[in-house]
Amino acid sequence: MSRILITSALPYINGIKHLGNLAGSMLPADVWARFKRGQGHDVLYICATDEHGTPAELAAAAAGQDVRTYCDEQHQIQKQAGAAFNLSFDWFGRSSSDANRRLTQHFARVLEANGLMEERVDRMIYSVDDGRFLPDRYVEGTCPHCGHVGARGDQCDNCGRLLDPTDLIDPYSAVSGSRNLEVRDTRHLYLLQAGMADRIRAWVDSKDWSSLAKSIAYKHLDEGLIDRGMTRDLKWGVPVVGPDGGPRPGMEGKVFYVWFDAPIEYIAATEEWAEAKGGDWRSWWRTDEGADDVRYVQFMGKDNVAFHTVSFPATILGSEEPWKTVDTLKAFNWLNWYGGKFSTSQKRGVFMDQALELLPADYWRWHLTAYGPEGSDAAFTWEQFQSTTNKDLADVLGNFVNRIVKFAESKMDGVVPDGGAAGDLEARLEADLRAGIAEATEAFEALEFRKAAQAIRAVWVLGNEYLQVAAPWTALKTDRDAAAVGVRTGLNLVALFARLAAPIMPETATRIAASVGATDLSWPSADEPLLDVLPRGRPVTAQGVLFAKIEDAQVAEWSERFGGAS
Ligand code: 2FM
Ligand code: ZN
Repeated sequence: MSRILITSALPYINGIKHLGNLAGSMLPADVWARFKRGQGHDVLYICATDEHGTPAELAAAAAGQDVRTYCDEQHQIQKQAGAAFNLSFDWFGRSSSDANRRLTQHFARVLEANGLMEERVDRMIYSVDDGRFLPDRYVEGTCPHCGHVGARGDQCDNCGRLLDPTDLIDPYSAVSGSRNLEVRDTRHLYLLQAGMADRIRAWVDSKDWSSLAKSIAYKHLDEGLIDRGMTRDLKWGVPVVGPDGGPRPGMEGKVFYVWFDAPIEYIAATEEWAEAKGGDWRSWWRTDEGADDVRYVQFMGKDNVAFHTVSFPATILGSEEPWKTVDTLKAFNWLNWYGGKFSTSQKRGVFMDQALELLPADYWRWHLTAYGPEGSDAAFTWEQFQSTTNKDLADVLGNFVNRIVKFAESKMDGVVPDGGAAGDLEARLEADLRAGIAEATEAFEALEFRKAAQAIRAVWVLGNEYLQVAAPWTALKTDRDAAAVGVRTGLNLVALFARLAAPIMPETATRIAASVGATDLSWPSADEPLLDVLPRGRPVTAQGVLFAKIEDAQVAEWSERFGGAS
């Protein structure tokens, strides 16, 4: 058994997340956490809301609420949405926690002591009409690299380059739209990343990450690291303090940049977990206190990769303290929505709460895992969702389970029948199952989710093929024992299919297992018995329709409601 620390990118507090966010970080992290727990490993899955910075302030202002009240409410909403999707966080924390404030201030202090953070007089955009400096997303304009109009001051959504607000061409205030902007002097703390480029490159070289993650990291390193301002003129955030913990002279009222404190919350949220649950957070994060044998796996969308492969490592490595760093980084592409992107700010696409109004979580969990934006961007369309759900879940899995359990109920006295020894057909099936399970396991181990889902589906197909050949409904007419072996094998397949479904569809897996009186949802190992596990004579009970087919009328209604083209 090994110890595995998993984090998924912290969702911004600015409203409930859409299916693109879910598919690109929290859901695969959850599937993988469940897979690893199912193998018996000691998993700690940590996430939190990312509550600081301009996204929070702008969203609170738009909602007409003070930022703290807004964050309190939105945290609860996101926590509930995560629970409704069965995201099995061991802790879902908040980057506005005391633990994160302490730890963020600690890192800043240590970096400054190590000569890697210093005060500089900065030229920042000041909005005369708004009477304030305009950090990050408070200013928008044209990207100097790709010409995208409407790029934000912190990052261009189109080309992914990290920006400073002063880089933007033709900037305007996101608060008022005013172009009456000036560049004024103000003091800020800078993280001196430029001098750390070689060290970070060597660290990236040593890592085993997905090719997408590595290529983004090298792209940013090749472009050249520059020293970056790590403080902002905002009211909401982790306050910048002096060595005594009081206000820092000349920097009163400033806070740390959201991307400085957010990844630190991975650690701080573990501290929050430990405080609440009585765990030992240091043994997960301090290599001098046991974290050396932890495997740390991060999940995120591709826009987050630069921050996790360059900026956060600069903080961690620059501290010269024995913190655990990421071992495996899994990055995802975009889930597209009818020719564009899902977007929180523009309310484009389907959001987590809305999705559950339409169908239970497992329908979405399957589709977003099996057809998610992994090797490349993926398009979500209602038609594809309908077709894959109906085939994979209703026809292949649901139909198999219902058919065999109902047959056992009506023709085998509602129990797992005996029927004597299995034959060649079952032996061949078992060998094929083992190969299929090995393929699914290998894909999961490699964090290849689409591949793993297809391998799992292929195992379900083996079950259907077996039943076609064994045909207990025909055998029953002439040979009750042969029919009983077919049914017994089919019911054992039901128990096995539940275990294979469990990481991706935990709720349905429990129902499927319950139909044959099973509770074991562990991930099957290579050598365990598969087809004669259920005790003979055990009662079985059909659970009703596992997956209802999605009808054309529903597709039409949802396309209309959500604006999908059709
Ligand atoms: O892009 C985002 O949604 C960010 N809130 C992700 C933060 S990840 C971590 F570093 F906190
Ligand atoms: Zn750009």
